[in-house]
Amino acid sequence: MIKKTAQSNKLLAFVTDAESQKILQSVPTDHLQLISDIRIGGINESIDFLKNNASPAVLVVDLSSSKLPVSDIKKIADCCEPGVKVIAIGDKNEVGIFRQLLSLGVQDYVVKPLSDKLLLKTFESVVLGNDDRNTKAFSEYGKLISFVGARGGIGVSTLLANCGFLLANQYTKKTSLIDLNVQGSMLSHLLDTETSTGFRDVLEAPQRIDDLFTERVMVRQTDNLSVLSSEEALDEPFLISEGAVSALLPIILSQFQYSLFDLPRSFSDGINTELLLLSNTVVIVCDTTLVSVRDVVRLTKLIRENENPEQKIILVVNNEGLYKEGHIDHDLFEESVQKKIDCVISFDSITPLVALNDGKPVVGYNGPLAKGIHQLAALLIDQTAIFPDTSGKMSFINRFFARNR
Ligand SMILES: Nc1ncnc2c1ncn2[C@@H]1O[C@H](COP(=O)(O)OP(=O)(O)OP(=O)(O)O)[C@@H](O)[C@H]1O
Ligand SMILES: [Mg+2]
Repeated sequence: MIKKTAQSNKLLAFVTDAESQKILQSVPTDHLQLISDIRIGGINESIDFLKNNASPAVLVVDLSSSKLPVSDIKKIADCCEPGVKVIAIGDKNEVGIFRQLLSLGVQDYVVKPLSDKLLLKTFESVVLGNDDRNTKAFSEYGKLISFVGARGGIGVSTLLANCGFLLANQYTKKTSLIDLNVQGSMLSHLLDTETSTGFRDVLEAPQRIDDLFTERVMVRQTDNLSVLSSEEALDEPFLISEGAVSALLPIILSQFQYSLFDLPRSFSDGINTELLLLSNTVVIVCDTTLVSVRDVVRLTKLIRENENPEQKIILVVNNEGLYKEGHIDHDLFEESVQKKIDCVISFDSITPLVALNDGKPVVGYNGPLAKGIHQLAALLIDQTAIFPDTSGKMSFINRFFARNR
């Protein structure tokens, strides 16, 4: 059966020719509780749509113009929310392609010329789940992104909360934020939400985690943004149980396209190391002091020991310009830590405090911090940053990017 996604009743198709569009439009889908939206386009249009919109329940992609169908399908998987059912169509009747696509979790490969009867059968078997051809999920798990500071108070929670807000509300990705600083999470303050009742229980007794966990315990900030955070009493000793992360991850990653973890400063219980090992992307937040050099080196060494070539490290310098003394210049810093700086966010003396007072995310204000967070969020999903349009008109640069996206 189809999992509940943000657009759980939508069947979206991109096809490269008008004839196929007409046939797809003629296939009845009401009895499957699906509303179909059949558009002209190929792989690029499909990817563009998925990057900027909630995923449909069923996606039909046309591989006719694709020279590398398998790698194109992998690109689509990267942009899809977990649980989307994908049907590929194409003009090559090759069993090799068919097998490879199925192994990537595509439900079916339909060869052109299309027939409405065959498509109806395909849709029915995909939606009703009475097809035993492919049980492998397409995009089974969303992306895991860990945020860690090279020193305390460097802005990890601020950057994470606001990047999460942008991923969910500007890029329309189903996003979860999980703060493992269980005794003093800032997320609920930064986003003006409640803390999650029951988070501590599952961290102490992970056997209590079930499929309904996200609905029961997570706090929904908006349709696309759910938060898991806690403010446990300081005088009550509390240990995250071994196995809590491995119990939590499959549930969370199968329901959200992006899950952002705020890691505590202490590595003593092994949980941070486990999460760093499993993360698709690790964001290290630092400043350009000697203190940061030490811990950026230690963190990158630990992460690189994973030897996962697909894992990305994003190095963010925050609070740039706060102090003049005691900071090293960027070239020397990069040389010392053996890593390029990916994003620089200036110190902002005004908007963080105003935002906290107003109980609103700082990305809703104009200022250097908001600007930097927009750039960081775009890096997290490999896109050009979309800046808020405050003038009512699109700037030259935004028009340029909108045209060329
Ligand atoms: N670029 C910036 N300019 C000005 N203030 C900032 C900036 N980034 C973060 N801050 C402020 O720094 C303070 C600490 O931020 P935050 O709580 O996000 O850091 P942290 O790394 O999560 O801290 P901790 O180690 O306590 O978890 C907050 O008051 C926040 O508003
Ligand atoms: Mg924090």
